[in-house]
Amino acid sequence: MGFHYGKIPYRIKAVESIRLIPPEERWERVKEAGYNVFFLKSRDVYIDLLTDSGTGALSDEQLAGLMLGDESYAGSRSFERFRDVVEGITGYPYIIPVHQGRGAENVFFRALVQPGSIIPSNTHFDTTNANLKRVGAIPLDLPCPEALDPDNTFPFKGNIDLEKLEHILHQKRDRIPFVMMTLTNNASGGHPAHPDHMKELRELLDRWNLPLILDVARYAENAYLVKYRDPAYTHRSVREIAREIFDLADGCLMSSKKDAIAPIGGFIALRDQTLYEKVLPELIASEGYATYGGLAGHDLEVLARGLQEALDETYLHYRISKIEWWNSELARRGIPVVQPSGGHAVFVRSGELFSHVPWNEFPGHALAIALYCIGGIRSVEIGSLMFGSEGETNQKAPYEYTRLALPRRVYTEEHLKWVIECFDILAQTKNRWPGFRVIEGPPILRHFLARLEPVQPLPIPGDIPLPDVRAQSEE
Ligand code: F0G
Repeated sequence: MGFHYGKIPYRIKAVESIRLIPPEERWERVKEAGYNVFFLKSRDVYIDLLTDSGTGALSDEQLAGLMLGDESYAGSRSFERFRDVVEGITGYPYIIPVHQGRGAENVFFRALVQPGSIIPSNTHFDTTNANLKRVGAIPLDLPCPEALDPDNTFPFKGNIDLEKLEHILHQKRDRIPFVMMTLTNNASGGHPAHPDHMKELRELLDRWNLPLILDVARYAENAYLVKYRDPAYTHRSVREIAREIFDLADGCLMSSKKDAIAPIGGFIALRDQTLYEKVLPELIASEGYATYGGLAGHDLEVLARGLQEALDETYLHYRISKIEWWNSELARRGIPVVQPSGGHAVFVRSGELFSHVPWNEFPGHALAIALYCIGGIRSVEIGSLMFGSEGETNQKAPYEYTRLALPRRVYTEEHLKWVIECFDILAQTKNRWPGFRVIEGPPILRHFLARLEPVQPLPIPGDIPLPDVRAQSEE
């Protein structure tokens, strides 16, 4: 796809210490955590790739913005600044701040979705899926067929399956209040959707008189990937490409913890005043008043700056070319990874690397635990622990992946090389790592809360080679 290696567009102004705890402690800490990465303490993690959400490094401009927060309950200057930036990017005039993406989902779905409704999408992420189920609706994932084949190098695997969508519209139009698109498609690999495809989707929805709502947590990465994968877009700015997509939709929900490089925040932005007025009472009841939505004034200042910084093309180029390099280094060493690389993470095809672990013993999770033991690296399963179920429903996810999400502006190439080195050991020792069973956990969102146990004992630290930690012990 012709990426050229990006130049790092920032330097380090403040640092945060990290430490690789000794192997025996890692084995102990992960056991205490019920073999669930969400129960690990961050001080016991060396490289944290659990998520790119809220984990980015703030810029000096954002930190300076913190001092300008207007904390008035209503009508603050900080809201005006935030609103102007969001309107400038999206073109939507009705802007509602919320505390984070799932706050947007909760408020929007409670206001506009009836029990029994069906909401099609390229793929809903886990909280979107759960928030739809909470209001009695049915989330329906219709990824394009290419997205289901991890070897397929089609550059726009974030597209939706238009044929299947049309089929469901013919059958169940009256139960569908709107269609959603997740940009980029987080669950299947952080893949982008193409603007031409979005136009086709818009035409289809116009024929059925249906709104299109975007989940734009990673819209800037989506626009950047379009620019560099399609020569027809090379000379367009990322901002223009993003706007072309916003122009095709009726509104969006955003988790600003991703492409606004902020520790907290989100918004709903809408074109239509009637929809806006329906959402406001839900917002005020659960998140906060219309001009702060659960955020501090200083958060709105951080978001206003972060939204602009995330559209900086030098930054986007550096970030995404680094992920592509990382993906290809792992592939070169025989680690099966989803192709092509996406915008925010490397997705390891754990079902293949850990083919000795059946889907209902969660190969993606087994790999995440092994990676923590080997090198103190925290990653997350995206597979049947996250999206499947057992017992009567016994449902398998469409893929068994482990996601290595890259926080924005945080880790350098040295950190990523450590991860690559640990993968070499993981590949050499793969058959020694067992699968897991859930011993307790809730039926929905269980991956966040479950306790697990290995189906066979884990290898012990002295039994497997571990990466060279001379750098640490010399300290
Ligand atoms: N939509 C997408 C596409 C997401 O990836 C997320 C969160 C949300 C909505 C919810 O936003 O966390 O601000 O409430 N994804 C994170 C992740 C948690 O790790 O991928 P939130």
